[in-house]
Amino acid sequence: MSNGEIVAGFLAPHPPHLVYAENPPQNEPRAEGGWEQLRWAYEQARASLDALKPDVLLVHSPHWITQVGHHFLGVPHLSGKSVDPIFPNLFRYRFELDIDVDLAQACCDEGRKLGLVTKMMRNPNFRVDYGTITTLHMVRPQWDIPVVGISANNTPYHLNTKEGQGEMDLLGRATREAIRKTGRRAVLLASNTLSHWHFHEEPSLPEDMSKEHPERYDGYKWDVRMIDLMRKGQMKEVFELLPQFIDEAFAEVKSGAFTWMHAAMGYPQLAGKLHGYGTVIGTGNAVIEWNLEEAGLSSLEPVTQRSLSPA
Ligand SMILES: [Fe+2]
Repeated sequence: MSNGEIVAGFLAPHPPHLVYAENPPQNEPRAEGGWEQLRWAYEQARASLDALKPDVLLVHSPHWITQVGHHFLGVPHLSGKSVDPIFPNLFRYRFELDIDVDLAQACCDEGRKLGLVTKMMRNPNFRVDYGTITTLHMVRPQWDIPVVGISANNTPYHLNTKEGQGEMDLLGRATREAIRKTGRRAVLLASNTLSHWHFHEEPSLPEDMSKEHPERYDGYKWDVRMIDLMRKGQMKEVFELLPQFIDEAFAEVKSGAFTWMHAAMGYPQLAGKLHGYGTVIGTGNAVIEWNLEEAGLSSLEPVTQRSLSPA
């Protein structure tokens, strides 16, 4: 079996509003449109993903919360209806997806080897969370690529940010090793919003874009500062600032997907391609691609302490 590759990673946030605005047949509510900048950003991400032809999409979602350990979808096929508990008016989505259970099991095993509590999710009637579904729908609405779904243990919320992000770093290393050993050609999806200050009242017409704007100017300024560093490939600075960004912008990257993805990719000092930025109920969302294949960085070496440090 050939060594695996991580061909790209995407920051791929999951506001359900984007699915709602697109009116796919799987979603019950109907919209007039809205949030076009972000949906057009995702159109570009879809084209990139299509050209990469991955075997599998791995997604870490903050909204599949598991209090004990890091869990992995572990059933070959899942289907059902997923409803966003905050926005049931926008997101009632009939999902159907295939899981790469062998890779999920490998991630689970490698995580345990690194000292994490890990578990396979074997419930055949499991309802997949809206974060996982929104991210996957927005990057690949055809649903024709198997996925690995990873839960949020939310250690950064129970522990402190540094310890929690450290655990996500381990999860990333485990994911990298699992992809390497199973020989997959993988794309990683970090399902995270940036600044997360949000409105507390929804406009009467949710897609009325005359009402959409950043909830807080300091959150917006943090977002553009971080995005600009990412665009320039100054990822070392991004990770140095990440704890302050999390604290001062209430950033959803705290839940760990962003750190997990970059740890798995080996913290490349690589410029991210910004496909677009926009707010959703005031929160800051960016679709950004790190194309490791284009940069000649997709092949995976065995994990060592030294090769996987953000510093
Ligand atoms: Fe979220």
